[in-house]
Amino acid sequence: MKFFIDTGNLAQIKEANELGILDGVTTNPTLMAQVGVKGEAAIAEHYKAICEIVNGDISAEVLSTDFATMVEEGKKLAAIHPNIVVKVPMIKDGIKAIKWFTDNGIRTNCTLVFSAGQAILAAKAGATYVSPFIGRIDDSSWDGMELISQIRHIYDVQGFQTQILAASIRNALHIVKAAEAGADVCTCPLDSILGLLKHPLTDIGLAKFLEDAKKM
Ligand code: E4P
Repeated sequence: MKFFIDTGNLAQIKEANELGILDGVTTNPTLMAQVGVKGEAAIAEHYKAICEIVNGDISAEVLSTDFATMVEEGKKLAAIHPNIVVKVPMIKDGIKAIKWFTDNGIRTNCTLVFSAGQAILAAKAGATYVSPFIGRIDDSSWDGMELISQIRHIYDVQGFQTQILAASIRNALHIVKAAEAGADVCTCPLDSILGLLKHPLTDIGLAKFLEDAKKM
């Protein structure tokens, strides 16, 4: 399973990248606004900066909702760097745009996916990635991980090549469960990635080893 970090924060992206296990970055308008990126030029500069830190796929989201504007926006985003993946919302024009990008060699991430039916449409349009939002499904008392398993099953049975990108990850357990369910990618906040490190017996064991090392 590939690991992406889900943030627009350059310091966090650097910190995750330094672990040596980072395969890419996802952003969205909320995450970009959180780090104060505003205006077309600043947005492009920010994506460029992310691409310079991480050698992997970087999702950059279109801000429009009609086919023609999404295509124009996506072309500009894709021109920023070869690693840019154009993130497109799961709406009717979004599916048309994903098909257009697919036919024109531009890779896509279909975002805001909450059902297996939507995931089938994304795959049919040729999306590189499909992003089911696990945490938001859990927040509404459905089982987000069930959706990952269902999409995995459908894609395997049908031979769809679209990669399942588990998104809206809230904690380290989500990462483990997404791996178990067969997600191709997990995009996570830095805290959830670092949460994977935690085990009290590791800390206790290391403290003892370091103490005993003094007697060596
Ligand atoms: C991923 O591509 C999405 O931008 C992100 O995971 C959404 O997460 P949230 O539900 O925590 O906002």
